[in-house]
Amino acid sequence: MIDKINRLLQEVEVIKAANTEELEALRIKYLSKKGAINDLMADFRNIPAELKKEVGMRLNELKDKAQEKIAALKEQFESRDTGCDDIDLTRTAYPVKPGTRHPLTIVKNEVIDIFARLGFSIAEGPEIEDDWHVFSALNFAEDHPARDMQDTFFIEANPDIILRTHTSSVQTRAMETSQPPIRIICPGRVYRNEAISYRAHCFFHQVEALYVDKDVSFTDLKQVLLLFAKEMFGEDTKIRLRPSYFPFTEPSAEMDISCNICGGKGCPFCKHTGWVEILGCGMVDPNVLESNGIDSKIYSGYALGMGIERITNLKYQVKDLRLFSENDTRFLKEFEAAY
Ligand code: DAH
Repeated sequence: MIDKINRLLQEVEVIKAANTEELEALRIKYLSKKGAINDLMADFRNIPAELKKEVGMRLNELKDKAQEKIAALKEQFESRDTGCDDIDLTRTAYPVKPGTRHPLTIVKNEVIDIFARLGFSIAEGPEIEDDWHVFSALNFAEDHPARDMQDTFFIEANPDIILRTHTSSVQTRAMETSQPPIRIICPGRVYRNEAISYRAHCFFHQVEALYVDKDVSFTDLKQVLLLFAKEMFGEDTKIRLRPSYFPFTEPSAEMDISCNICGGKGCPFCKHTGWVEILGCGMVDPNVLESNGIDSKIYSGYALGMGIERITNLKYQVKDLRLFSENDTRFLKEFEAAY
């Protein structure tokens, strides 16, 4: 009988169950009324008295072990109870496809990288802004059309609070909190009250750059613009500057690059001119420096701002702006190889 108990002890030590049915079968085999241990209990009555002590101890040991093992297996199943008992834990997992980076993020990172190599560091500001940082501190006249309800989202309860219409607001925040040299690049989302169509959206993205120091000149700006255009669109890219107007820069300019789709020969994208506009820029207006606590007699600076959607369109010829915010994975997957 001792041999039988020992054999069962070894057996119980290594029991395994793949599911709750198998576990129940084990319980019946060892612990039920008609199970192996109960049979031994019945036999126990017939063994000689001098063996009873030793056999009794072993038998109790076996019973405890079987109960303990079966309870442990049961707990394992309960803790991973998924509502179905037939999970095949050996099945190969489905391949998990990692996501892809959004095209606007890819392009934004490229712009940041180029400016980072020139010593610009990233600055950020709030998207919900006040009139001062978006307009007044940037020399916008009281009646400038950009303040109009047509363009700007105002918070009804307090028209001083708005959604920023451009990342130039971050310039203001940087200047009011630090003294030159200031060399920052400000990527971010901006909002304008525009009807949504293939060529306009009520939100889009910009990158702004600002450099304020002693003796900063328009020549410095031109140099940086040329370098940026070549890095972004290729070594053969040419730039041209056209005089323009922005309240916060004087003089102001808009920059065109030679059309990177037709190489400057003329195509529908560049309206057969060979040039496409990509950004606004200029020397920081002394009024802006002064409004933000910087002495314009000592310091000068340049600023530039560009739309990331525009640059992305030029690089990847995305014809409909709405694609950028629809999260259609068929569109996003096209950029898998781009980073
Ligand atoms: N903030 C301008 C816009 O949203 C873009 C811009 C133009 C930024 C000229 C600048 C600049 O920094 O110098 O249209």
